Amino acid sequence: MTLSPANPAVLRVSGLRVTYGPTVAVDGIDLAVAEGEIFGLLGPNGAGKTSALSAIEGLIVPREGNITVAGTDVHADAMRAKAQMGVQLQSTSFHSELTILEIVRLFAGLYGVALTPSELHKRLVEISLDDGASKRFRQLSGGQQQRLSLLIATIHRPPLVLLDEPTAGLDPQARRQLWDRIQSLRAEGHSILLTTHSMEEAQAVCDRVAIMDHGRILTIDTPAGLIEAHKDDPRVRAVARGAITLEDVFIGLTGRQVRD
Ligand SMILES: Nc1ncnc2c1ncn2[C@@H]1O[C@H](COP(=O)(O)OP(=O)(O)OP(=O)(O)O)[C@@H](O)[C@H]1O
Ligand SMILES: [Mg+2]
Repeated sequence: MTLSPANPAVLRVSGLRVTYGPTVAVDGIDLAVAEGEIFGLLGPNGAGKTSALSAIEGLIVPREGNITVAGTDVHADAMRAKAQMGVQLQSTSFHSELTILEIVRLFAGLYGVALTPSELHKRLVEISLDDGASKRFRQLSGGQQQRLSLLIATIHRPPLVLLDEPTAGLDPQARRQLWDRIQSLRAEGHSILLTTHSMEEAQAVCDRVAIMDHGRILTIDTPAGLIEAHKDDPRVRAVARGAITLEDVFIGLTGRQVRD
């Protein structure tokens, strides 16, 4: 799962800076996501996670930095780079009156993906929506909506999948179901970059995580590696309530102060 010449990065970000007027949202970050890796971007509210994803997705133009997806420079060849990505935004909505089947057919058409009826059925089974395919979007639970939006984001089987807080607001059952699907995507060879506020989620599904704050990456490693590396940091020890957890490392490095 680690980066090596035999397993090159599907996503490579270097020196990324994103600003909104005087606000510096991303202040020079470097990261790489390997083929078949689930990489988690953690950070308090306002840390710059969505801004970093938006720059990778080509939705905003960064002030500085280089981004390549599957070897293609996002800035120099935006169309080609975008074809290599699947994107789930922090909140996704579809037309409320369309059924699941209609939505999947619509986006398959837009992406130029030809799906036979049996392939379509297989895609719905993958996200456990085959039973409710005739349900309208407005009738879906939060978990079903998130799974549908993940199906749409990956309908063209992109090498890189970008998910902004994919499990926010879901109950434990729906969250587990989405974790399973995200791990299946990895097993199918996709690389995944996701953001989350759940340390449990980061530990459960991410191969590596970066902790970000004030637009900078503070540390990157496996969840276990982060605990090992920071367990003796006095800031981490000061917030621990027992054996050191990933959350202790997170709070220790980013501080206890609540962000607005
Ligand atoms: N469109 C915008 N215009 C101006 N400032 C923005 C805009 N989007 C984000 N910001 C600011 O940029 C900084 C980073 O915001 P961003 O949304 O990237 O953080 P985040 O880590 O995704 O936070 P959250 O966990 O709340 O989703 C914040 O200070 C935010 O207020
Ligand atoms: Mg965000």
